Amino acid sequence: MKRKEFLKTLGGAAAFAVTASCLGGCSKSDDSVTENPVAGLPFSIDLTDSSSSPLATNGGYIIVNNTVVARDLSGNYVAATNLCSHEQKRKVIFQNNEYFCTEHGARFSLSGNGLNSDASAGLTIFQTVLEGNILTISA
Ligand code: FES
Repeated sequence: MKRKEFLKTLGGAAAFAVTASCLGGCSKSDDSVTENPVAGLPFSIDLTDSSSSPLATNGGYIIVNNTVVARDLSGNYVAATNLCSHEQKRKVIFQNNEYFCTEHGARFSLSGNGLNSDASAGLTIFQTVLEGNILTISA
C-alpha cells in the first residue's frame, strides 16, 4: 500500500473515532459544569443598588457571580454557590429559608448540610460581611 492510500484509509477511521466519541455526549447545550464553586470570590454588593433590592426583604435573594446571596428569615445575609453538588448544575436558588436546586429538588440548610438524598454531598457556603451598605461575600 502506498503512503497516500494508507493515510486515506486512516483518515476515514480517525474521522469515525472522533464522531463516535461524541455520540450522545458532546452537546454544548448541556448545562453541567465542572467549575470551582468558589471561583470569582471575593466580591461586594452595594445594597443601595436597585439590583440588590430583593435583599431588602427577609427571604429575598439574588444570584450574582454564580453565587446565591440571600437574606434569611432572621434578617441575616447568607451566601452559597449556585452549583449543586448533585449533578453539577447551576440551579440552586433560595426558597423557604434554605437553598434549593430546581433541577431535581436537592435541599440544603443554611449551613450547607443536605436535607434530602439528592443533597447528600452538601453545598459550599460562603462568608458574608456587612460594612455600611456594602456586603462582601468571600470563601
Ligand atoms: S443537579 Fe441539583 S438536585 Fe440534581
